Amino acid sequence: MLSMQDLLAASPVRLAPMAAFTNGPFRIIAERCGSGFTTSEEIDADALIRDNARTELLAQQYPLRQPVAMQLLGSSAETLVPAALRLVEAGADIIDINMGCPVPKVVRKGKGAALMRDVGATARILAALRAALDVPLTIKIRGGWDDHTLNAVEVARMARNVGVDAITVHPRSRSQRYAGRAPWDVIADVVAAVDIPVTGNGDVTSLADARRMMAETGCAAVMVGRAALGRPWLFDPEHATLAPEARAQLERQVVADHLALIEEHLPPKEALIQAKKQLAAYAAGGPGARALRGELFAAPTIGAARAIYERRGAIADESRTERDGVAAGA
Ligand SMILES: Cc1cc2nc3c(=O)[nH]c(=O)nc-3n(C[C@H](O)[C@H](O)[C@H](O)COP(=O)(O)O)c2cc1C
Repeated sequence: MLSMQDLLAASPVRLAPMAAFTNGPFRIIAERCGSGFTTSEEIDADALIRDNARTELLAQQYPLRQPVAMQLLGSSAETLVPAALRLVEAGADIIDINMGCPVPKVVRKGKGAALMRDVGATARILAALRAALDVPLTIKIRGGWDDHTLNAVEVARMARNVGVDAITVHPRSRSQRYAGRAPWDVIADVVAAVDIPVTGNGDVTSLADARRMMAETGCAAVMVGRAALGRPWLFDPEHATLAPEARAQLERQVVADHLALIEEHLPPKEALIQAKKQLAAYAAGGPGARALRGELFAAPTIGAARAIYERRGAIADESRTERDGVAAGA
């Protein structure tokens, strides 16, 4: 069986799963930029075994170079086991169980972060998965359900004891959602409690941050989520060393390749939505981003969206010229 220890040593920094963003095209681009192996967005086990068409699209395989981790959401072994077997048959090399999703409609059904509440019941689910699968089984957890039940260490120990091969920790609690700083000391506590590899996650925005998280917590690897949206080149150690023109050229190429992959791999309707979403992420934080976003989402075709996005360069140039003019006392 694939060794998670070796794989994580070879993949110190990787893209985190993000629903509606980290589909195949984005994962291919992140890998090309230097991300370690990637994890699919969350796939609902109940919907998958009902042959829901949209869910099947999420479970589709792409030409990724590295092992493929596929993530499942579920609340019982009755659906998680057959769904996991189906994903393995379709090509998944690793099965990851989502134990951190805080979305109310997910936790109400006992899925995502709700799995951290009843540790005994979750142990039985994970043991059933472990017995059924011959690929690594991993979990992604939060710090706990809420600030009164920060039980990441207890859950990690239980997971290790039922044979889970690796754990990712996003240390905020479910009730914290994404507010406040991620308390990295919870990652260090989990690292100290188990002898299986731990991936740390939360508020990492650069390779330097990732190295700092590894040094401060002892985690074996790091996952980067939001900071990689519209900035997949953050996985590329060369990017920050390039001169501004070469850097801009590399970024333009990444965006163009990403759009081409979206058109190649997604059905037309989905491709248009994805292209707009990803272009809005690439434009975020830049000059005129808010206005650009509105225009992007009204675009009728991918070509039109791309033309709107490319005008962003002109907007940036105009504002730079204005700034330079002010600085020069013009
Ligand atoms: C839009 C969005 C979608 C997400 N979807 C998932 C998901 O499908 N599965 C999962 O385990 N985590 C999901 N997450 C959580 C991230 O993987 C990650 O744990 C979290 O964003 C903290 O890391 P960051 O500070 O690097 O963003 C999502 C986060 C965001 C912002």
